[in-house]
Amino acid sequence: MVPRIVYVNGRYVPYAAARVHIDDRGYTFADGVYEVVLVSGGKLIDEGPHLDRLERSLKEMRMRLPMPRRALELVLREVIRRNRIGRGLGLVYLQMSRAVAPRDHPFPPAADTKTQFVAWAKPIPPQPRSNTEEGVKAISVPDIRWERCDIKSTALLPNVLAKQAAREAGAYEAWLVDEEGFVTEGSSTNAWIITPAGELVTRGLDSGILAGVTRRTVIALAKDEGLRFVERRFSLAEAKSAREAFVTSASSFVLPVTQIDDAVIGNGKPGSLSLALRAHYFRYMNEGQAV
Ligand code: PDD
Repeated sequence: MVPRIVYVNGRYVPYAAARVHIDDRGYTFADGVYEVVLVSGGKLIDEGPHLDRLERSLKEMRMRLPMPRRALELVLREVIRRNRIGRGLGLVYLQMSRAVAPRDHPFPPAADTKTQFVAWAKPIPPQPRSNTEEGVKAISVPDIRWERCDIKSTALLPNVLAKQAAREAGAYEAWLVDEEGFVTEGSSTNAWIITPAGELVTRGLDSGILAGVTRRTVIALAKDEGLRFVERRFSLAEAKSAREAFVTSASSFVLPVTQIDDAVIGNGKPGSLSLALRAHYFRYMNEGQAV
């Protein structure tokens, strides 16, 4: 499934005609940032936190928004409209790169630096039933990424290699493990466990992980439900003996993990707390702010 219409630096163009320059630094250096926002019932879910994170990523990269935030919000609504997402589920993708400039590692002079901005939206199919009925499998791989994983950069090569390893192993996700044996996050999701004592655990925010917007929402929902929640590191060994495990992201929502490598999690079925949080998240999606 591809989008119909793409916003490219001020124009809405058919997908097949959407082009960026060969000297776009997003292309040559992965010198750019991105966001993926869920659309449900005609609403952008958690738009504010996504755009806050985008602005933070840009600031950390010493890049500028290409337009005022209000104008950016209008572009996102226009790509949703032009891609006919309607009331169903969809994703908005937006990417900003530093500039188009002759290939040279340092930033181009400020006067030649015009943030390049591309955005599109597309409908997404509902997740397969088996995902919630059986959960998904994760494999573990070493986390070989850089030390600024808090920036949502388009430089995703280690994530791509990890996800491919997962696919080749028949798994949905790869959990990345740091040098001390702790799980950082998934290749495109945040990682969570529920301990045998019933405590909900996810790694605290640091530069080793992306501050997931879904993570933030799920923490708020869990607190509302009175669940015992702690932010701390957990090892791969602890995850394998957890009662439940799941991942979160804008495109996965809350997705139970029932196997990590060869270890079966809990009784091998999605856990009750994971499913409850998933249901809460769906409720939250359906109550989101109107576009
Ligand atoms: N990925 N960690 C990583 C490395 C991610 O790439 C993502 C999101 C997340 C979850 O963040 P959020 O809840 O804000 O979606 C965590 C997006 C969906 C992607 O790259 O497609």
